[in-house]
Amino acid sequence: MSSSNTIGILGAGQMGGGIAQVAAVAGFTVKVFDAFPGSVDKCKAVHKKSLGKLVEKGKLQQADADAATARISFTDKLEGLSDGGGCDWIVEAVVEDAKVKKDLFSKLAAMYPDESVVLATNTSSISITDIATAAGKTASRVVGMHFFNPVPLMQLVEVIPAIQTSPAVTERTIALATKMGKTPLKANDRAGFVSNRVLMPMINEAFYAWMEGVADPEAIDGIMKLGCNFPMGPLRLADFIGLDTCVHIMNVLADGLNNDRYRACPLLKQLVTAGRLGDKTGRGVFEYPAK
Ligand code: 3HC
Repeated sequence: MSSSNTIGILGAGQMGGGIAQVAAVAGFTVKVFDAFPGSVDKCKAVHKKSLGKLVEKGKLQQADADAATARISFTDKLEGLSDGGGCDWIVEAVVEDAKVKKDLFSKLAAMYPDESVVLATNTSSISITDIATAAGKTASRVVGMHFFNPVPLMQLVEVIPAIQTSPAVTERTIALATKMGKTPLKANDRAGFVSNRVLMPMINEAFYAWMEGVADPEAIDGIMKLGCNFPMGPLRLADFIGLDTCVHIMNVLADGLNNDRYRACPLLKQLVTAGRLGDKTGRGVFEYPAK
């Protein structure tokens, strides 16, 4: 059985980059694949800033931050993950599109015929069972490994076995997440798992409250922060996650759970149509100064 010393990450965005950083800090060799122009430089800058912050706060020694950075390499070709020796664990964190993910998983299954190489997906809500079908005969090694943003600060990894996932793979995933310094908790493969099944309808409801004039966004967030001890109000959190992602997850819930009560709020959809996607576009519910 593989010892999982080298982790391949697909996607150098907010989630993939965060997972790469956490894995490298935990001592793993990390290879990150992303073909999108500029993504690697952006990811490196985010690592520098985040690791710098952790050092500043005394959570990490500078030497350990430097060693973690040195353990991360990047490639713009999927095959590049095998340069200098293959990976013994993959975490996919690309765009939330079932077709794109399944295409990658069938390529990964062919690239890594050794079934001990676990193929994990960080999808926030797409069916792991569906993604696993792309690995064909080796679907039992596909598993959900759902991290939370910002990955270096959030404690949870939601571990989601597909119907096909072998119990041994689930156990290895729990062990790996623990080695990465996280707390793994298991959920079954139903749309949204536990986290987004509970979180997203709450966020969606905050948009309804705003749309119906129950209160303005500042008051909605203030009430939830001060009255319920949320670190961020639901509307601020929606901007942080990305309003397009929120709509996407609501659609997955509505379709996957066969229930229209999960349909995205019209105001949330309208903001997405206007290109107000949250932090990443500088404006969502709230406005954010250019970084
Ligand atoms: N790495 C290192 N340090 C970081 C960081 C990162 N990635 N992100 C923020 N920090 C630092 C900040 O720089 C700041 O440092 P400072 O005190 O020196 O200024 C410190 O952490 C605290 O940050 P902030 O002052 O900005 O604000 P908070 O005290 O509110 O903490 C937070 C930030 C941890 C993000 C907190 O607001 C929080 O927990 N928010 C909720 C996040 C959440 O719910 N995430 C889950 C989203 S859902 C998801 O990911 C699932 C997906 O499927 C949708």
